[in-house]
Amino acid sequence: MIRRADDNAAGRPTTDRVKQIFSTIAPEYDRFNALSSLGIDRHWRAKTVKLARLKRNSEVLDLAAGTGDLTLALARLGAPARVLSTDFVPEMLDVGRAKAAEYEGDTVIEFAVVDAQDLPFPDESFDVVTVAFGVRNLPDRAANFREVYRALRPGGRYVVLEFSRPPFPPFRAFYHFYLRTVIPFLGGRLTGDRESFQYLNESILQFPGQVALAGELHRVGFSEVMWHNLTFGIVAVHVAVK
Ligand SMILES: C[S@@+](CC[C@H](N)C(=O)[O-])C[C@H]1O[C@@H](n2cnc3c(N)ncnc32)[C@H](O)[C@@H]1O
Repeated sequence: MIRRADDNAAGRPTTDRVKQIFSTIAPEYDRFNALSSLGIDRHWRAKTVKLARLKRNSEVLDLAAGTGDLTLALARLGAPARVLSTDFVPEMLDVGRAKAAEYEGDTVIEFAVVDAQDLPFPDESFDVVTVAFGVRNLPDRAANFREVYRALRPGGRYVVLEFSRPPFPPFRAFYHFYLRTVIPFLGGRLTGDRESFQYLNESILQFPGQVALAGELHRVGFSEVMWHNLTFGIVAVHVAVK
């Protein structure tokens, strides 16, 4: 496993390291995503939108939105009043902004540089908060969960799409092999930065399983937490209700 002097004790990247990784890979991020997931990520995002249970007047905050794929899926498939697409790496948001320029629906899509652990919004500002493949990279997940709880209106939903733990052991072994070999190879070929992909994979392998993550969400006060495994549990969508 690769560790650097700026890693924290749990082996997760520090804020500076995460910012450096995503600002470097931003231009190739979408291509890498499509290739490494074989396009299945579109299905995962569609399911995430469904579980958000959006209404026409919903105001949505998409955290760690990166190049905006979930933001755009929320607008296209859920058609809420507004989606605020946020990330702390401007280069990632720039790609999302360019893609959103082609969106022609009724949802207002806006962009802002925001740290998901320290939300610059008053209490009870949003009906739904979403995050896809973002909480895994946060050094302080609990801070994010507390902030989202605060920023949600009563009854609001935090919908978290993230890599998870396939429950069937033989499949899990195959998947972990894929993560440790194919992904760094592919990422390295596409971006020239193989090490960042090895690093991101370690964050997948170290991320808590479904039950543990649900426990963490409960602990900050969410009244109801459920999850749905997708693609044999490679990813899970957790829904936490305030
Ligand atoms: C794997 S990408 C996911 C992007 C997008 N949500 C998607 O589904 O494709 C992770 C994103 O999280 C962002 N990120 C990591 N830590 C963050 C933080 N503390 N605050 C805001 N964004 C963060 C990174 O900049 C990156 O764009």
